[in-house]
Amino acid sequence: MSIHYAQTSLVVTRDGSHSLRNELTGEHYHSIFGAFTESKYVFEKMGLLEADQSVAPLRLLEVGVGTGLNLLLALAFARDHCLHLQYTGLEPFPVEPELIAALNYGQFADAAACAWWQSVYSDLLVGHPQPFSNAEVAVVQQPLLQFQATQPFDLVFYDAFSPSSEESMWNDDSIDHVSSLLAPGGRLVTYCIRGYIRRRFMANGLLAEKRPGPPGKREMMVVTKPH
Ligand SMILES: C[S@@+](CC[C@H](N)C(=O)[O-])C[C@H]1O[C@@H](n2cnc3c(N)ncnc32)[C@H](O)[C@@H]1O
Repeated sequence: MSIHYAQTSLVVTRDGSHSLRNELTGEHYHSIFGAFTESKYVFEKMGLLEADQSVAPLRLLEVGVGTGLNLLLALAFARDHCLHLQYTGLEPFPVEPELIAALNYGQFADAAACAWWQSVYSDLLVGHPQPFSNAEVAVVQQPLLQFQATQPFDLVFYDAFSPSSEESMWNDDSIDHVSSLLAPGGRLVTYCIRGYIRRRFMANGLLAEKRPGPPGKREMMVVTKPH
């Protein structure tokens, strides 16, 4: 399988945690106000903590695995909350393994999860799912619109690049597709709150609400699918 690695360079964000900058678009993978702070708030606090934790396994889809920072938080959360987690991450343009190894997430996220991620990353990229504690992790090298799921998801981390750099990740086709992947009662979290995106989720019969955002961003969006 040939891998189309992203062209990126390492940056340090305001809370000291690393992020990456895409060399072609200039976009950062996280908020420059703090990669770890943003991920912890948007994806752990507003996503995992508020999701229905009684479902087992909790089926989590991440759109845009990137550095794996959100995954690291999810793995530690699942272990600490005794959740059975099934994580599927989509990533058509993976980060180079050398850069994954250089990230300082072991100082911010769970050190054991971070060491595990660095050691299994290359195997995950070639399609071999890996276990960590009470979680199963799979990475699929496919863009969102090509991804056909065999099961719906209880929680979605929608962490695409911003609409100004990757408009196609936020157009009607993408929003309709990701809406169809959510299970009844499922939850999607994203940092982006543009009105046309919120309206498209609602046109799909979902509830799309603005919530207070992480430092440096006034608001974020939480989407839920009725039962
Ligand atoms: C904002 S970054 C992701 C940050 C990531 N969650 C992290 O913690 O590092 C957006 C990611 O979406 C990926 N991406 C680009 N096009 C995509 C597509 N069509 N489907 C899924 N992911 C895509 C990019 O390669 C990039 O890794």
